[in-house]
Amino acid sequence: MTAAAALAAALALAGCSDSGSAAGSGKAELSVSGPYMPQPVSADMAAGFLTITNKGGAEDELTSVTSEVAGQVTMHSTMGGAMRQKSSFAVPAHGQLVFKSGGNHLMFEKLRRKPKQGQTVTVKITFAKSGPLTVEMPVKSATYNPSTGH
Ligand code: CU
Repeated sequence: MTAAAALAAALALAGCSDSGSAAGSGKAELSVSGPYMPQPVSADMAAGFLTITNKGGAEDELTSVTSEVAGQVTMHSTMGGAMRQKSSFAVPAHGQLVFKSGGNHLMFEKLRRKPKQGQTVTVKITFAKSGPLTVEMPVKSATYNPSTGH
């Protein structure tokens, strides 16, 4: 009788905490900040950078990037100076996925036009669970540094 009561209490507690986490922060809440594209020097390829912040309690995964300006957008990581194409990037719960100069970056290939400083490029980024987000990515100078702002 005592053991059964204790078990029932334990099950009730487990059930309670499960529904609590599902109702609370059980999914990813994504936002994008600081997107920019340095004006490309090449006529057929450009780079892009942005930060994806996840305020939610579940991880998500960036699975594809497309843009009106490029025939193809690929995702790269940089390890020890060498870049490697990746098919997805994890966005950790309560964390960030950062694309920045010298690190992870987007590569816009087969450019349909050459983006110029002052223009904006529309980029669609798609996540495994949260679906697509549309980002307006401003084109900055070829040597733009986000930490100094010019
Ligand atoms: Cu690359």
